[in-house]
Amino acid sequence: MLKAEYQVRGPVPHDVIEAVEFSQPELQEGEVLLELLAAPINPSDVLTLTGDYGMLPPLPAIGGNEGVAKVVQHGPSVDSPALEQTVLLPVGIGTWATHMVANANALTPLPNEADPVQLSMITVNPPTASLMLTEFVDLKEGDWVIQNAANSGVGNYLIQLAKMKGLKTVNVVRRESLIDPLKEQGADVVLVDGENLHEEVAAQTEGAEIRLGIDAVGGSGTARLGNCLANEATLVNYGMMSGKPCVLSPHVIIFKDVTIRGFWLAKWFRSASKEQQMSLYGELTQLVATGKLHAPIHASYAVKDIKQAVEVASQGERNGKVIVTP
Ligand SMILES: NC(=O)c1ccc[n+]([C@@H]2O[C@H](COP(=O)([O-])OP(=O)(O)OC[C@H]3O[C@@H](n4cnc5c(N)ncnc54)[C@H](OP(=O)(O)O)[C@@H]3O)[C@@H](O)[C@H]2O)c1
Repeated sequence: MLKAEYQVRGPVPHDVIEAVEFSQPELQEGEVLLELLAAPINPSDVLTLTGDYGMLPPLPAIGGNEGVAKVVQHGPSVDSPALEQTVLLPVGIGTWATHMVANANALTPLPNEADPVQLSMITVNPPTASLMLTEFVDLKEGDWVIQNAANSGVGNYLIQLAKMKGLKTVNVVRRESLIDPLKEQGADVVLVDGENLHEEVAAQTEGAEIRLGIDAVGGSGTARLGNCLANEATLVNYGMMSGKPCVLSPHVIIFKDVTIRGFWLAKWFRSASKEQQMSLYGELTQLVATGKLHAPIHASYAVKDIKQAVEVASQGERNGKVIVTP
């Protein structure tokens, strides 16, 4: 059995994490032994390794915040979930490990026949995309939304969810090779970021009023998105991929009265009721399990190759998520 552990945090994320062996733990009352099926490496996992995330676990810690596993052994007094059942891993368990122990009550069974790799990304990105489309602006069918980092996991889900709601999307990326793949996902307009973004967006949308902007980049990327928005629009920043503070032109703030807001899923979890959480996750799980909602995969790595996996996941210009498998 192997786990991807870090004893310290540091500026080079793949330097601090390593695969270490551990022996099979003895199961206590109510516990089950799980074998990993798949767990993604998200930008937040990388920021957790460097110490730059908004919430940091005590050290030493096991990497990974979401994923799916199957039940391989029951502890005393446990008979469900059944052996071989696919389950969603609870947040905070440390998912980059070949095996882990969890309380049976904390596990959510998922459809065994669905693709475990797609299921493994359910906890973080699909609800983020969904909530950013519903929590900030009252959008109607036919309304436009603009986002940057549109080829990200969140960006891909947002394109697909917006399409299902009858919304139109302008998607800003950093390279031309992404235009066709994102249009296949349902994107209406895909543009390469640049100084003329505002004019290109106006031309491609026939001057549509865009009341919601979604920014994962920060820095001048925020400013270019802000320039494309309508009067009194809302710009939601939810990521810091550029590592730079958000910039917004005074013209956009003063003359257009654009509001900038932040979104953090962890904060939504604190305020949403159990019913709201179950309703959102029930709907999204159904969409992912039936293949209606999906995200591209760049590569998969075994836990033993965690350093290489984290190094690749920390780099830009990937073709999708990096996945950890046993
Ligand atoms: N606030 C929340 O609750 C919440 C929840 C989920 C995710 N997030 C955040 O959402 C963002 C996307 O997450 P994800 O898992 O979807 O990411 P991902 O699939 O790993 O994709 C990363 C994206 O960032 C882009 N990118 C990387 N460096 C960049 C730079 N310097 N300038 C502009 N774009 C850059 C990449 O574009 P290239 O392909 O061109 O490199 C790619 O589109 C991350 O910042 C993540 O932390 C926030």
